Amino acid sequence: MALVDLTFANPDAAVLTAHTGRIVVFADTTLDAAARKVDRLTRGALARALASPAFGALKPGEALDLAFPSGLAAAAVQMVRLGVKADAAAARKAGASIGRALKEPGALVLAQGIGRLPALVEGIALRAYGFAIRAEAAKPLGPVILAVNAPEAAKAACAEAISRAEAVHFTRDLVNEPANILTTTEFAARLLAMRELGLEVEVLEEAALEALGMRALLGVGQGSDSPSKVVVMQWKGAEGAPLALVGKGVVFDSGGISIKPAGGMEEMISDMGGAAVVAGTMRALATRKARAHVVGLVGLVENMPDGKAQRPGDVVRSMKGDTIEIINTDAEGRLVLADVLWYAQERFQPAAMIDLATLTGAVVVALGHETAGAFSNDDPLCAALLKAAETQGEAAWRLPLGPAYDTLIKSRMADMKNTGGRWGGAITAAQFLQRFVKAGQPWVHLDIAGVAYPPGDSPLAPKGASGWGVRTLDALVRARFEG
Ligand code: BES
Ligand code: MN
Ligand code: ZN
Repeated sequence: MALVDLTFANPDAAVLTAHTGRIVVFADTTLDAAARKVDRLTRGALARALASPAFGALKPGEALDLAFPSGLAAAAVQMVRLGVKADAAAARKAGASIGRALKEPGALVLAQGIGRLPALVEGIALRAYGFAIRAEAAKPLGPVILAVNAPEAAKAACAEAISRAEAVHFTRDLVNEPANILTTTEFAARLLAMRELGLEVEVLEEAALEALGMRALLGVGQGSDSPSKVVVMQWKGAEGAPLALVGKGVVFDSGGISIKPAGGMEEMISDMGGAAVVAGTMRALATRKARAHVVGLVGLVENMPDGKAQRPGDVVRSMKGDTIEIINTDAEGRLVLADVLWYAQERFQPAAMIDLATLTGAVVVALGHETAGAFSNDDPLCAALLKAAETQGEAAWRLPLGPAYDTLIKSRMADMKNTGGRWGGAITAAQFLQRFVKAGQPWVHLDIAGVAYPPGDSPLAPKGASGWGVRTLDALVRARFEG
C-alpha cells in the first residue's frame, strides 16, 4: 500500500479548532506548549487527563484518547506520552501509536515541541500500513499534517526517514503478496523496475544458471511452472569490494515431495522474505544515494510437488562442486542459498556477506516471533550487525556454530546431506550454509523465519509482513560501509 500522505505545515489557531479528524498532542509530566493551547480550547480536559491514573500508567510513546472533545471540531484528541528528552526509540513508538490509530479523516499532529521529529515521522509512516486485495479499493489512511514551526526544514530533516519507511513498505508488499500474483517472474519484474532509482539490475534465467552449474538451486524449482531466477542488484555508491546481501526467495514453499501439512501452509507465501528484505534494503540505499558499494543477490524459486519435482534421495551437484544428498525436499532454502552465496563470492569477492532467509521452523521454536537468529564466523561484523539492529528496535540474537554440529550433516554417499535431524535445526541449517562460505570470508546468516511474517501486531507493523531487517541493514551500511 502507498505511504500515508504526510505534509508539514505551520497552521494557525483556526485550523486547529476546525480540524475534524484527530488532533495529536504530546505530554509527559506536563503538557507541552501546543497541548496547553488545546487544553484551553477544551476548558481543561487535557490537564484533567494528564492528572488521571490512566495517563500516569502510560509508558513513553503510548497514548490515551479523548473522544469528541467540546470546544473542538475534532473527533478525538490523542494524548501521546513523550518527554522533551525522549530518545529515538520512544519517538518511534509514539509515531507507531499515532499510525496505529490513524483512520481515513486523518490527523493533525501538534509536533512543534518534538525534538526527535524524524523518528516520530518514521514511526507514523511504518505503522500506518495495510495490505488488502478486495473488490473495493482500500481507502487511504490519513492524511497526516505535522504542525511544526519551520515546515520546509522539517520536511528536509524527515526525507530520509520517509524514504526508508517507503522501502520497508516495498518489502512488506512483496512478502504479503500471494504466490499466484508474486511469481518468480513478477518478483523479478518488480526488481527490474528499480532501475529507475539508479540501481543496476540483471536477471539470470535458467539457462544461465544451468551454465553456471547451479544445480542445487535449480533442483528446488524444477517442480514448478514458474522459472527459477537469480536477480543481481548493484548499488555503486563507492569504489572497492562490496558488501553482498543474499536473500532466500522461495515464492511459495509447499515442501515439495516432502510436502508440508495443510494447516498453516498458506503462510509459506512469505518464504521469499529474505529476498524481499534484500530488495527493500537496496531500494533504501539507492533512494538515499548511500556512499557505499552494495550488491544484492536473490534466488527466486518455487518449491512444488510434481512429476518433475526433485525427490528425497536425489543427489545434486552445487555450483561450488560439492554434492548434496536430498533427505527432505522441504529443506530447500539452504539449497538455493548455497549456490547464490557461492556465486556472490566468485563474482564479487565481497568485503562482507550477509544472508537473510526464512530458513527454519527451529529458529521460531528457539526465539519466537520477536527475535531473529544470527550466525557468524566474524565477531566484529556480527557485533556491528547486532548493534545496528538494536538501534532500530529490531531484535536479533547470536546462536552458535561449531564442528560438532557440522558432523550432523555428513552424508553416507555425498559431500553432505540437506538436513541434520531434529535437534538444533536452525544451527545445522547454518552449518550447511557455512560450507558454501569461503575461508576468511566475513559472513553473517540471519534466520528470519520467526520475524518476517508474525502472526499478530508487531511494534511497527500490523499483522503480516514486518519488513524486519531493512532498517537494520540500512543502519549497518551507514555505520560500517560508508566513508
Ligand atoms: N520455509 C521453511 C521454514 C519456515 C518455517 C519459515 C516456519 C517460516 C515459518 C523451510 O524451508 C523449511 O521447511 N524448513 C524445514 C527444514 C526441515 C525439513 C529440516 C523446517 O524448519 O521444518
Ligand atoms: Mn521448506
Ligand atoms: Zn522454505
